Amino acid sequence: MMRICTRKCCVNEEDIGAEKGKQIIEETRGFIFPAFALILNVCDFLPVLKWFRYKGYDEFRHKKESLSVSKSSTSRNSDTLVETLLSLQESEPEFYTNDLIKNVLLTLTSLSTKYGPVMYLRLGCRNLLIVTSPSAVEECFTKNDIIFANRPQTMTADKYSFNYKAVVWAPYGYHWRALRRLMVIEIFSFNSLQKSSALRSEEIRILIRGLFKVNCNRSGSSGVKINLSNWVFTFSFNVMMRIGTGKRCVSEEEIGTEKGKEIIEEIKGFFFATLLVLNVCDFLPVLKWFGYKGIEKRMVSAHKKRNEFLNSLFDEFRQKKVSPISVSESSTDGNREKKGTLVETLLSLQESEPEFYTDDLIKSVVLILFIAGTETTSMTIQWAMRLLLAHPEAFHKLRAEIDSKVGNERLLNESDFTNLPYLQCVINETLRLYPPVPLLLPHYSLEDCTIGGYDVPKHTILMVNAWAIHRDPEVWEEPEKFKPERFEGMEGEKEGFNYKFVSFGMGRRACPGAAMGLRTVSLVLGSLIQWFDWENVEFEENLDACYNTRITLNKEKPLEAICIPRQNCIRFLDQL
Ligand code: HEM
Repeated sequence: MMRICTRKCCVNEEDIGAEKGKQIIEETRGFIFPAFALILNVCDFLPVLKWFRYKGYDEFRHKKESLSVSKSSTSRNSDTLVETLLSLQESEPEFYTNDLIKNVLLTLTSLSTKYGPVMYLRLGCRNLLIVTSPSAVEECFTKNDIIFANRPQTMTADKYSFNYKAVVWAPYGYHWRALRRLMVIEIFSFNSLQKSSALRSEEIRILIRGLFKVNCNRSGSSGVKINLSNWVFTFSFNVMMRIGTGKRCVSEEEIGTEKGKEIIEEIKGFFFATLLVLNVCDFLPVLKWFGYKGIEKRMVSAHKKRNEFLNSLFDEFRQKKVSPISVSESSTDGNREKKGTLVETLLSLQESEPEFYTDDLIKSVVLILFIAGTETTSMTIQWAMRLLLAHPEAFHKLRAEIDSKVGNERLLNESDFTNLPYLQCVINETLRLYPPVPLLLPHYSLEDCTIGGYDVPKHTILMVNAWAIHRDPEVWEEPEKFKPERFEGMEGEKEGFNYKFVSFGMGRRACPGAAMGLRTVSLVLGSLIQWFDWENVEFEENLDACYNTRITLNKEKPLEAICIPRQNCIRFLDQL
């Protein structure tokens, strides 16, 4: 644990088993697990006792602080958790205080060392179970799957879930099943995916044309620096908006321009604002009374903006002002938009079953497309590009696969994927190293059960630490290395590669959008490699430092890269 966090050992190899080693461990345990390390102690209720240094609680605190996390204490080129947190601290010193960093590290280190891969915590008023091994994941999502098929009630869900009608937050039961069935039929089934495939093909054409044009508008052929994050987000939002409403968020002319960027930033602002799935008020609800850090207020304001955005979309439909963009005849795979958009379908279902298809329910479905479907895919595309730029051998292997199986006379399309196994390996490896939802979404148990031989009481929140499982050396060989080849030939393995790979979750509440997400990521990544050469703007020695674990920490570093049209593709790109 010490090495994961700081690259240093607590006890040197020579001292292990020796008297000195024992002393170090005893001393460390002494201040990490002191008998009096209560979350609340008597001084919190009678602060006056602190003045008399009652039972020395305060001295214990100071001793903990002497565990320095200064920059010099970590080796320079490493990519440890400490460095990640320290780099976040540079940009947001008020949030990432030394105390917070130390507490996260001490908590993770001490708890995992002491309790192993199944940890049960009592945090404030909540029970929390954190699992970090494939066998524990298997137990949670096979024999105990129904027990954990609920979601906890949290502040985020209270504010954003349309009264727990949204599929992500709905309790397990009739409503959730009906909604999930509806979403599968309308969005995620094979037929619906084939239908939306035409639309993704069209948007990819626009993306590739746009990137080529940016290059043509600048003199010279040395390429152009672009903010790839913005292009990719624009693509994802436009696809989801077209599936939902038939319109684009950003018009073709605006893509890549300042105005286009502003639109995307604004939408991201209210869709992804304060998106902490669990926050401190969920554990200590009393903090809500004091409006702790304005969290609740910010959520209310973001929800108001989302609601206004969705209301205006619906109004346009009700007043029949929307004329959905039809998929052009030039669509490569021949799929045409045969029936209306998702909102049209839902509004017509509302006419026959108004009690189930309420406005709130319809809004929640559209919202899920934007929230669950855009950031996850955009982040995965960016991570795959970052990794490929840092590993030219993998980049060229993937390029060779695409050139030989698809060529440079036509755009790659979704029917090519079965012939592109290495592309799939690259994406899996990206999701393994940088899962966009590193702790999955919280599950909630409604009955007592047993996990790993331990009794787990009902009303426990389950968190699966996918990040830790994906980087566990007991589970993956050389887990820190980017080796897409490790996924070659693994297709035959059981679910989630034997529960070792859990980026999309498992069981009943697993991600229903996995197939759509993988299609989108494969299409964009494959096309970017098919038509352009890419160069790093700055060499990122420490990729982990830009990891955005939005579910807990709200920070992201946009990906910038030099985009150069491939010489042998210019004729085709020019006619696109
Ligand atoms: C790379 C892409 C994606 C990743 C990595 C991803 C990951 C996840 C994860 C980890 C969960 C939680 C599973 C759990 O609770 O155990 C989830 C749930 C969900 N995802 Fe995705 N997702 C992706 C794309 C999408 C897309 C494209 C959509 C829809 C357009 C989507 C819709 C949903 C929904 C509706 C749920 C909630 C399911 C429920 O509670 O019943 N996801 N996703």
